[in-house]
Amino acid sequence: MMTANEIRDSFKKFFESKGHVIVPSAPMVIKDDPTLMFTNAGMNQWKDIILGTKDPEPRRRADSQKCLRVSGKHNDLEEVGHDTYHHTMFEMLGNWSFGDYFKEKAIDHAWEFLVDVLHLNPADLYVTVFEGSPEENIPRDDEAAKYWAKHLPEDHIINGNKHDNFWEMGETGPCGPCSEIHVDSRTAEAKAKMAGRELVNKDDPQVIEIWNIVFMQFNRKSDNSLEPLAMNVIDTGMGFERLVRMLQGKSSNYDTDIFQPVIKQIEQLSGKKYGFTTPSGENGEAKDEQEKIDIAMRVVADHMRAVAFSIADGQLPGNAKAGYVIRRILRRAVRYAYTFLGQKEAFIFKLLNIFIQEMGEAYPELPAQRELIARVIKEEEDSFLRTLEKGINLLNTAMEEMKSQGKTELSGKEAFRLFDTYGFPLDLTELICRENGFTVDEKQFDDEMAQQKARARNAAVVENGDWVQLKEGEQEFVGYDYTEYECHILRYRKVTQKKSSFYEVVLNHTPFYGEMGGQVGDQGVLVSENETINIIDTKRENNQSIHIIKELPKDVEADFMACVDTDKREASAANHSATHLLDYALKQVLGEHAEQKGSYVSPDTLRFDFSHFQKVTDEELRQVERLVNDMIRQDLPLDEHRDTPIEEAKKMGAVALFGEKYGDKVRVVRFGPSCEFCGGIHAASTGRIGFFKIVSESSVAAGVRRIEAMTGKNCEEAIYALEDTLRDLKAMFNNAKDLKNVVAKYIEEHDTMKKDMESFRQQAADRAAKSLVEKVRNMNGINVVKAVLPVEPSSAKDIVFKVREAIPEKLVCVLGSVYDNRPLLSVMLSDDMVKDHAMNAGRIIREAAKLIKGGGGGQPHYAQAGGKDAANINAAVEKVIELAEL
Ligand code: SER
Repeated sequence: MMTANEIRDSFKKFFESKGHVIVPSAPMVIKDDPTLMFTNAGMNQWKDIILGTKDPEPRRRADSQKCLRVSGKHNDLEEVGHDTYHHTMFEMLGNWSFGDYFKEKAIDHAWEFLVDVLHLNPADLYVTVFEGSPEENIPRDDEAAKYWAKHLPEDHIINGNKHDNFWEMGETGPCGPCSEIHVDSRTAEAKAKMAGRELVNKDDPQVIEIWNIVFMQFNRKSDNSLEPLAMNVIDTGMGFERLVRMLQGKSSNYDTDIFQPVIKQIEQLSGKKYGFTTPSGENGEAKDEQEKIDIAMRVVADHMRAVAFSIADGQLPGNAKAGYVIRRILRRAVRYAYTFLGQKEAFIFKLLNIFIQEMGEAYPELPAQRELIARVIKEEEDSFLRTLEKGINLLNTAMEEMKSQGKTELSGKEAFRLFDTYGFPLDLTELICRENGFTVDEKQFDDEMAQQKARARNAAVVENGDWVQLKEGEQEFVGYDYTEYECHILRYRKVTQKKSSFYEVVLNHTPFYGEMGGQVGDQGVLVSENETINIIDTKRENNQSIHIIKELPKDVEADFMACVDTDKREASAANHSATHLLDYALKQVLGEHAEQKGSYVSPDTLRFDFSHFQKVTDEELRQVERLVNDMIRQDLPLDEHRDTPIEEAKKMGAVALFGEKYGDKVRVVRFGPSCEFCGGIHAASTGRIGFFKIVSESSVAAGVRRIEAMTGKNCEEAIYALEDTLRDLKAMFNNAKDLKNVVAKYIEEHDTMKKDMESFRQQAADRAAKSLVEKVRNMNGINVVKAVLPVEPSSAKDIVFKVREAIPEKLVCVLGSVYDNRPLLSVMLSDDMVKDHAMNAGRIIREAAKLIKGGGGGQPHYAQAGGKDAANINAAVEKVIELAEL
């Protein structure tokens, strides 16, 4: 039996033998495409090629791509675990032809691989072809059907509708008719009872699609229309986990060697057994305890993979966007493990070793970041388990209440509160409710969510208009060599926000750098003969600089000069170069594990996140600063290599980032020993940075530290500010030469004085107490001490305690004190007064304090009350005596 790793290799080998270049998987997390957060199909990384904005060579490629389908158009999250063949993260084997072979060869290749190489039984295979769509004016795919007929009898070729047989990447983007290959893996007996073709696309767990061959022919535009692509593209995707399951003769993906090692580990850690069952209840609901355990184990095994791969790709769990999706996946796993596997403490991170052992060879980013992944997962587990407990208690109370009131639906408000305060995603609340026979008012939840979003300040983008194409052609970026360039507008569109709108403009030539790799976009102007338009920002989308302007030029077809604001650009270029030197220096000082995890570079500041597992010490920070400043003084020239083949760049020792998407050719930026893959704008030499100073070092997540620093002019200003502070300080100490010693002496003197003062205060309290004790009066056998003194509150307390020390029995002591014009009433009773005379200092003082417009309380034997009306303090003292009823 072939192992999963062997199957993956055989796919690559097969397509290599058919002239395909084998490429690495793109990162699962997408960073520069606003329409897509995660790679959800193998073709995502080729979107630019398919749309014709990027060189299609080499025209035949194949890979195994990490995909995540948990958001947007393709979202499988809810099914995962409840059935045996959906996953959040999965691998997709794919082969591509960009304007090379088309339908016939794609079909032949697929057939040859499945039947001749993997020896699947042709009798078990069914294929679908697109039945056509009259309203979109697309005929049935007779061509594909004809080529399939070379391999399969007619009754194995089935027409499919738009839902199944017209593949679209998202709401917009490349799309086209497709042919799916389905495999019938039922028993011979079952096959005899019912033909496989009846079960294709009918959600039968044993008759499933394994390979989708898309004939990309269109681009779906935002107005929903279809535009033909300039070239025909083959895009195929084969679900790796399903394929392995077929070949290993299992009825569940989770029974293959992709998941079994991890599931065995879960069994060991939880002491529970995996039942090798598929849910038999309705809608994938478990019918008994064993099925619940099985579902939970599948959920944990699946989600751990997704989260580990995301972290390796640089996406940490967080509160927004992609980070939140990852957090939700992990929380779903924690919650299943908590409830059904009895895991009340973090344990998912313990599965990583075995998982990485299996996957590490195919995906080296996993072993390389093992420690970081483990720490991040553990911290997330710990923190969610803490809130989980609180939230579950809350939900239980709510469900009890609903039961007693005969309600069956949890209000959306309550569900939203759980989400907002306890981080319970709606799916989690729904799950818990469902298990207890309740539903959730989803609509109200959505309303609450919408209201909260509306409250959020940042007005979200409401509408992107369609691009208005003025001229044909593609953009050329000239910003590495120029800061001014002649240009015209190729296309523009209007973007409408809640309260404002702006335009996005694509120029044919542009020196403007679009925000990317942490460096902010350029600002500047667009100048024609008659007008000057401010470019307020530049973004980057699909490899192009998108210029943001408030108003369109009056003549959009004019010739322009695009001029970058060079002051800002030079400042951010210097900061960017400084981050490279910082990256290098950190590795020197802390070790090679200090991998870049993020960065932000603007004209004013720079920020650099990196993996490191403890605080960077002051001494280490100094060392880093010295190293960087040394490199600045050496004035190392920018040594830039554009369009370097990626292999050559690696040989040069260039540092690449995990999770970054690199093409076949990359740009390498070198300053002396620092050498990185980088597309950013840099200083011509390190001397331009001027000076480098770290401002802060902090933690951003488990195992990730952040350094903020400044350079050049900002350092100069900071030094002036420091100098000014120091000068002012010196002036305060008579321009002392040795400020440090003088200040130390002052502090010492101050401490001594404070001690002396305290002792004086104590002595004064002693004296006051003594004189009060001497003036004690006897009223009906009770020792009454009363006085009004100008002492501070802490002394008042001391005094009454001292009086009690001197007169331990039959004592009623009341002291009114006024300090800083604030009155304070203190009442002290001996214990026998409380016990035998049922007196209570707290009760008495509450009443008496009304006279000084105040309140307070305390214990039965001692109470204090402050107030606002110092003039009445004598009356309040008398009131206490009156209330004592002596
Ligand atoms: N893009 C298609 C899919 O994801 C084929 O790769 O199914």
